[in-house]
Amino acid sequence: MPDPKPPETVDIGARKADHIALCVAEDVGFHGKTTLFEDVELVHDALPELALDEIDLSCSFAGKTLRAPLFIAAMTGGTAKAEGINRDLAVVAEALGVGLCFGSQRPLLVRGIRDGYFVRDVAPTIPIFGNIGVVQARETTTKALADMLEACGADAICVHLNPAMEVVQPEGDQDFRGGLTTIARLVKELPYPVVVKETGCGLSRKVAERLVSVGVKWVDVSGAGGTSWVGVEAKRAAASQRALGERYWDWGIPTAASVAQLADLGLGIIATGGVADGHTAAKAIALGATCAGIARPFLQAQARGLHPLREAVEAVIAELRLAHLLTGSRDGDALRRADLVVGARLQRWVPRGTTLAGRMLG
Ligand SMILES: Cc1cc2nc3c(=O)[nH]c(=O)nc-3n(C[C@H](O)[C@H](O)[C@H](O)COP(=O)(O)O)c2cc1C
Repeated sequence: MPDPKPPETVDIGARKADHIALCVAEDVGFHGKTTLFEDVELVHDALPELALDEIDLSCSFAGKTLRAPLFIAAMTGGTAKAEGINRDLAVVAEALGVGLCFGSQRPLLVRGIRDGYFVRDVAPTIPIFGNIGVVQARETTTKALADMLEACGADAICVHLNPAMEVVQPEGDQDFRGGLTTIARLVKELPYPVVVKETGCGLSRKVAERLVSVGVKWVDVSGAGGTSWVGVEAKRAAASQRALGERYWDWGIPTAASVAQLADLGLGIIATGGVADGHTAAKAIALGATCAGIARPFLQAQARGLHPLREAVEAVIAELRLAHLLTGSRDGDALRRADLVVGARLQRWVPRGTTLAGRMLG
């Protein structure tokens, strides 16, 4: 690991603790905007000719295999509370064969804070992804990031794009220049897969095409309709910035729309953002995602204990399995070919002439 840089003026650990507390206890969901998954209907197959236990939920993402198409999405690290949270998340992810993403590793990178980032002892086999903001990555050498990932035993890095929340965040960044060049450098130089993700505002087709143009192969759309990170930061902000955050609380591309926009670009896609159950996760996969990701609902389950967390993840997997059966889909590839009924609001986001457009009934 590189030597920790001098302390920043802002207490990163305190910010991470605020995030956990707000996401567990406060209403930080979108106010009016939804994911638009309610505009997707999977078509029932009354003659599936499948046994429930022969359904193959396994999938591959960024070169790693998952037993079920699900990630516990990027949440925390870098504060004392994160140690227990990430250990619980890691234990459950390992037991059920799903992936785990750390929250931003900026505290480790700039302050040497290790809490929550060293969990390989309880999760030796599952995919674990590191995390850094693109602005921080811009200021960091590729070698420092590679050393950090190696030290934590991570399999890939998620690079998060979060301009909306940063501007509202009291101590946030305001200069987002050089993002694509930074991602291009990491894709070229980093000996780990690079997953580009948003943080609740979604990825548009145009942004995804720019990512593809520099060699990105994996994304997490992290769309709108679940946790509002503008909302979280608005709750932490002083009056003037809070007003800005209130105004933009519902900003972003609904998660289902973001998946639909990206579905035919050849990307591996994680669908995060308001995907709180297995039926919704199945809709995301039917629209073209490789797998789903869930953040805040799993944090809230963990706050109730290890057992409730395990039950919550098991429930999502059971619901996913049932959605496969009831659509006659033996595996994820079959679900991605299944018929769909898509409502008018989501149809507006589906690019014309794409395979997805052709699969929509009506
Ligand atoms: C407590 C908490 C902390 C988060 N921290 C990060 C982070 O550090 N980096 C990141 O890329 N995303 C972070 N996220 C965003 C999630 O990965 C996810 O994209 C977003 O919350 C939408 O998913 P959800 O609706 O299931 O919560 C965080 C989410 C939560 C709930």
